[in-house]
Amino acid sequence: MDITGLSHEASGVGRIEGRVVFVPEAIPGDRVKIRLVHLKKRLGYGELVEILEASSDRRAQSCPHAPECGGCQLQHMEYGAQLRWKRQQVVDAMERIGGLDLEVLPTVGMNIPYHYRNKAQLPLGQADSGLVMGFFRKGSHDIVDMETCEIQHPLITKLALVLKRTVQELGIEPYDEINHTGVLRHAVIRVSFSRDQLMLILVTRTSDLPKQNEFLTRLREAVPELVSVAHNVNPDVTNVILGRDTRVIWGESYLMDSIGHLDYAISPGSFFQVNPVQTKVLYDLVREAMQLNGSETVLDLYCGAGTIGLYLAADAREIIGVETFAAAVEDARYNARLNGIDRATFYVGRAEDVLPELVKEHGKVDGVILDPPRKGCDPSLLETLATAQIRRICYVSCNPSTLARDLSYLKKNGYVPGPVQPVDMFPWTRHVECVALMSRVEK
Ligand SMILES: C[S@@+](CC[C@H](N)C(=O)[O-])C[C@H]1O[C@@H](n2cnc3c(N)ncnc32)[C@H](O)[C@@H]1O
Repeated sequence: MDITGLSHEASGVGRIEGRVVFVPEAIPGDRVKIRLVHLKKRLGYGELVEILEASSDRRAQSCPHAPECGGCQLQHMEYGAQLRWKRQQVVDAMERIGGLDLEVLPTVGMNIPYHYRNKAQLPLGQADSGLVMGFFRKGSHDIVDMETCEIQHPLITKLALVLKRTVQELGIEPYDEINHTGVLRHAVIRVSFSRDQLMLILVTRTSDLPKQNEFLTRLREAVPELVSVAHNVNPDVTNVILGRDTRVIWGESYLMDSIGHLDYAISPGSFFQVNPVQTKVLYDLVREAMQLNGSETVLDLYCGAGTIGLYLAADAREIIGVETFAAAVEDARYNARLNGIDRATFYVGRAEDVLPELVKEHGKVDGVILDPPRKGCDPSLLETLATAQIRRICYVSCNPSTLARDLSYLKKNGYVPGPVQPVDMFPWTRHVECVALMSRVEK
């Protein structure tokens, strides 16, 4: 079978007797032998048995964990080809889901597509071989013991390896997911690229962190870059990593990082873009798209820790951010003060609930930035945008499917979609981020 496309889940796509067949680990240009594992009326799923002829875009996997780890789905594809296929996925989503014939620009990739992640969430567990800490095996909750990682910052790997050794030496019990026993569930590690500093969040099932003082002393001695340690308690039977209670138990309350000209304080639980190098690229694209002249009121909806709005604040008269996660809004306010920005206001609430009031209060809003989670914007928010007179809307999206759906709605309701710019925030993975501009049709 010839593989002619790549699905958004990073499976190769081909056809057998008119049916679309998805084959994990195959890539466009491969000729493969497969075993059909699941067949439906119009589609099927195959298992790769043999590569008969390899695509010219195929490469040898460079990470020793690649065959088992679920993190990087495109380790076997050349980087340039990844960028081309990510663009193609956006084109396909625009056409098939949005019915949109839009210009989609070439994906902006990274010059060095390695060691870009500033955050790792590492589960711990007990295997037959002993303590394991790393990543979940593809499609399972077995833990692959991590020795190295090509996409996370090297300081994260350094701390992770010291942490695992220390847990072993002190005999701290890892969590047992099946029986819901044991203590240490996850180590969440964040790194500041601009400062070379680390924050560690230890997630335990129990309210106590055993041998806390000895544990912290050993970590700090072995990893001087560590500046903050927090303890999070998660007693629930759940896949959610962080529980409700987080307490800084040593060092700084925030990890400080910079994106371009701005400093940001990141608290243990707050959302911060995972790839800071490409975040600057992304935010510069938003700034370029918005074309602000200093006189505008700009709404930053789904603002997280206020990062995009604050990045643009010097170009606008006023920034108003809206976000549901209260701790992130606190960070946003803190970040505004930190950067001496007094023309930024942040509200806790759902963007769809707060937007109608903001539009009523401000009359004509000049610009809106949308950066929703994967499920896209709430229909009622899009309805409000359709009736409001917004000059420019810049939509930042991590999901081309919901982006296409939402752009299609806005196009039918008074906005002209501009080109869509894919940005590669996550090299070697199937994910693609997009920036799309919408302008109001002048009547
Ligand atoms: C993709 S993140 C964007 C964060 C931020 N713009 C940035 O660049 O760091 C999406 C954010 O939307 C928030 N969120 C989810 N649903 C929301 C809603 N209905 N209204 C407002 N914020 C929401 C999440 O808590 C999260 O912080």
